[in-house]
Amino acid sequence: MQLGVCYYPEQWPESYWPSDASRMVDMGISHVRIAEFAWSLIEPAPGQFDWAWLDRAIETLHSAGLKIILCTPTATPPKWLIDQDPSMLAVDANGNPKRFGSRRHYCFSSEKFRTQSRRITSAIVSRYGNHPAVVAWQTDNEYGCHSTVQSFSESAHQRYRNWLAKRYGTVHKLNAAWGTAFWSQTYRSFDEIDPPMQTVTEAHPALRLDWRRFGSDEVVEFNREQVDIIRAGSPGRLVTHNFMGFFTEFDHYKVSQNLDVAALDSYPIGFTQMFFLNAQEKQQWAEVGHPDIPSFHYDLYRGMCKGGKWWVMEQQPGPVNWAHWNPIPKDGMVRLWTWQAMMHGCGLVSYFRWRQTPYAQEQMHAGLLTPDDSEAQGAVEVRQLANEIKALTDHVPLPHLIVKAQVALVFDYETMWMAEIQPQGLDYNALEQVFRIYSALRSLGLSVDIVSTDADLSIYSCIILAAQWNVSDQLLLQLTQSTAHIVVASRAGSKSEHMSISQPMPPGALMRLAGVKVQRVGSMAHGSSVPLFVASAAGAQHAIATGRRWIEDLQCAGATKWWVNSQGKPIVTRHHQLTYVGTCLDDADWRNLLDNVCTQAGLATQRLADGLRISQWGPLTLAANFAETAAAWSPKALLAQSQTQAHKILLGDTLIPPQGIAIWQVH
Ligand code: GAL
Repeated sequence: MQLGVCYYPEQWPESYWPSDASRMVDMGISHVRIAEFAWSLIEPAPGQFDWAWLDRAIETLHSAGLKIILCTPTATPPKWLIDQDPSMLAVDANGNPKRFGSRRHYCFSSEKFRTQSRRITSAIVSRYGNHPAVVAWQTDNEYGCHSTVQSFSESAHQRYRNWLAKRYGTVHKLNAAWGTAFWSQTYRSFDEIDPPMQTVTEAHPALRLDWRRFGSDEVVEFNREQVDIIRAGSPGRLVTHNFMGFFTEFDHYKVSQNLDVAALDSYPIGFTQMFFLNAQEKQQWAEVGHPDIPSFHYDLYRGMCKGGKWWVMEQQPGPVNWAHWNPIPKDGMVRLWTWQAMMHGCGLVSYFRWRQTPYAQEQMHAGLLTPDDSEAQGAVEVRQLANEIKALTDHVPLPHLIVKAQVALVFDYETMWMAEIQPQGLDYNALEQVFRIYSALRSLGLSVDIVSTDADLSIYSCIILAAQWNVSDQLLLQLTQSTAHIVVASRAGSKSEHMSISQPMPPGALMRLAGVKVQRVGSMAHGSSVPLFVASAAGAQHAIATGRRWIEDLQCAGATKWWVNSQGKPIVTRHHQLTYVGTCLDDADWRNLLDNVCTQAGLATQRLADGLRISQWGPLTLAANFAETAAAWSPKALLAQSQTQAHKILLGDTLIPPQGIAIWQVH
């Protein structure tokens, strides 16, 4: 449980550095991340390196006792480099190149930029790879930020064709797999295939899906090239990348295969304003962030790297500058988010940024210090955290084991791409569907592992496919062999890997396990809903749930009806231990359904007060209160069935104040 900070020595007079470093240490910070945007200062002109300032900055931080996370600076290629060869710029879907003047303007597919990326990575690694202060490396910065995965450059065209040739072998196989007989789209050679740009109406969905896969693979390869250089030149150091929240343009699992630590950038209040939450939720959680946004990402990134190591590389310390609205977090939230991360197994929480800069694009973004060098609220909370963490870790041995939850929520990047390509209804949002189900589980006090389709599912009591449009043979085999209770949400198994309707009909590979066949599907206009009734209570007056956005016409083929529409047609069915849900439910209905299933699976659920969340990490249990009113809670609720266990409060109280936390040790 370490604390860190993102620091930009190049943005401040050198006279500040020593006191900055000693203030960090005094605040309880042990790690400092530097240099991810420093290319033009490291190499002011082609081949002319100015290491002197960075040498001094590193020495200053090192002599204060700080550990350094050093970055490759490829997110900001300098002006001279771009002017040397503008073909390194990314190109948008209208064929217009991006321009210099912000960041992330490079094209992942530019072989010329790849050469530059390897060159600057080698230079910085050979300079500092064995420096005793350097404990970890971050590759680049937030791959894909500002929608920069897809580039329609000439180089990307060619590499996409090569990628397709490798995947399909012959163009004949590609034509057959995609279904190019439709609209006269047959190709005679791979060279005829263009990326999905400037078409009159939508391009072929199979072509678009492969384009997304290709774009993702380009990021994986770009990252791996840097990682290989780092590993060779900086042995014994951890390698990480800082992923962006709610960002699905590339496969984070695949990038993580080459990393030691998956890191995420956590901006709960910004995310609350920028993503799919409705107006009422945005208002309700404006100053604290939706309670499940931080932990959704904690539970996702914990599953990324072998060994389960994960960090928060950038933690919101106060108001940000980039959301539609940028409220001030309530006092206590920086502490709450940090403790919650720690109680999901996080090894390091690092704040973005040390001092708010008075100039440039992010001048309105808070830091731990204000531009005039005084301590902002974030710093006050970091000081408190450092003391609390020390007191707690002095007393309790922390788990080194990889703690696993009892519920697995499968998360699949390819489904996110498929759903963006053909949503078949404006209100269907696959990412939101996964999040809403996650949130319902968390509101029941359950711990959740968010896992990839090839994770080992045999250890879970409950497995949930919230959005799984294609079901691979391997996933099917795991589900078939599992003794867990399984919940399958609508559209699962509905597509082949080439984005055509599955054979057999949806839910495709899952048809036998689910005991249902999807006959027809419909999307519902915004505001429309379908009342649902318990099948066994025929003629009931009151609906027990509501379906929205998406509805399926199911035929039971072995399954029994559980929830039906007003005509008695099945909408939610059960077959042995598998529950199939042919619509998108409201939050409260997901909660009821999952409570029922998880209880049957033998899990102890509890209906937590609005805004209260529980996290369990080895012997420690945390209760965090995001609500406006105090909430009472104690682990007794969890221990009901095993009276022999004892618990001791380590921090806080059983009456948890708004934005407060409490931590217990449970034997
Ligand atoms: C992140 C990014 C940082 C900074 C921050 C502001 O997305 O990695 O460089 O821009 O957002 O919140």
